[in-house]
Amino acid sequence: MNSTENPAVDFAAVSRIISDLEARFVSHDRFHDLRMQFDRLLYRRRADIEAGYQSDSYGIVVTGNAGSGKSTAFLRLFGHHPDLMQLQERVVEAHVVSLQVPSPATLKSVGMSCLHALGYPLSRDRTAMIVWQLVQHHLQARRVLFIHLDEAQDLFVRRGGNEMQAVINTLKSVMQNSSWPVGVILSGTEELKELVNVDKQLSRRLYPIEFQQISWTSHGRDVRDILKGYSAAAGLQPAGQICEPTFVRRLIHSASHELGLVIKLIIGAIEEALFRGGKDLDWLDFRLAFQRKSGCVDGLNPFVTDNWKAIDPLVLLPTEKLAGPA
Ligand SMILES: Nc1ncnc2c1ncn2[C@@H]1O[C@H](COP(=O)(O)OP(=O)(O)O)[C@@H](O)[C@H]1O
Ligand SMILES: [Mg+2]
Repeated sequence: MNSTENPAVDFAAVSRIISDLEARFVSHDRFHDLRMQFDRLLYRRRADIEAGYQSDSYGIVVTGNAGSGKSTAFLRLFGHHPDLMQLQERVVEAHVVSLQVPSPATLKSVGMSCLHALGYPLSRDRTAMIVWQLVQHHLQARRVLFIHLDEAQDLFVRRGGNEMQAVINTLKSVMQNSSWPVGVILSGTEELKELVNVDKQLSRRLYPIEFQQISWTSHGRDVRDILKGYSAAAGLQPAGQICEPTFVRRLIHSASHELGLVIKLIIGAIEEALFRGGKDLDWLDFRLAFQRKSGCVDGLNPFVTDNWKAIDPLVLLPTEKLAGPA
């Protein structure tokens, strides 16, 4: 047990608070862009269907580092959309199918995952071509308007030119299908950006949205508001010190400038505060949360050392050598 932990703490009660915090969603500018772009495509496609056109579909590509909040944004977008049916048991119609690209990703394994997501897993071995014909058939049968592939950089990496072109051609054929075109939404890491640019016909069909890193200048005030909002939701008072720029800068750095990781670190600190039985959320709680997450000594903890900018916050169990440039 950590020396700051309170022996009388109610683990179940703290866990419930943390679980509620983890279920919260912070709306942000990139999410707003994503929702706007998605709605444009959704309502445009609906209008085309009503008018009886079968025009090509367009899609979106969302890129950003791990922890920037891509998967969470899509869960929110699809899960809370007022006008979108998701896949449900015993309901044929589904407007969006969302899945994670399987690993290893081949044309065939991705097709199989799509079939699985559509509720038609294959029991027999089939060729990639047949698998994708079935995918296309079920997309139409269920009236799917968009297919979302998360971690889509895995579709392309370590593939030879031919296999990569086969993936690109398949995505294009899903979007251009003459009887039922489906919009393709891809999300993934920075590598995805380069990969979609390999084929101009694909890139011109995709609207890009970047979940860029955040900084004090761009999002300092937002981070402070998130800090206050989460503290209040946990029944804690943020100490004055942690609302100061000097602290918020460290917080953003410690979370690698990724919004999702900032939120995770705030929740981690709140957990420390609750376990210590405190009423305030203090600087100390962030120090402990960072230490618990990275396994670092104080000298390599950005909430302790003055040289915090030199620390690479993503290194686990850092030693002086691994911690980043001095
Ligand atoms: N908008 C948000 N509101 C609340 N928590 C978020 C938000 N975005 C991300 N998170 C938190 O950050 C974590 C990492 O985000 P995630 O969506 O998995 O990032 P990515 O898919 O870009 O790697 C999530 O598990 C979630 O806890
Ligand atoms: Mg993700």
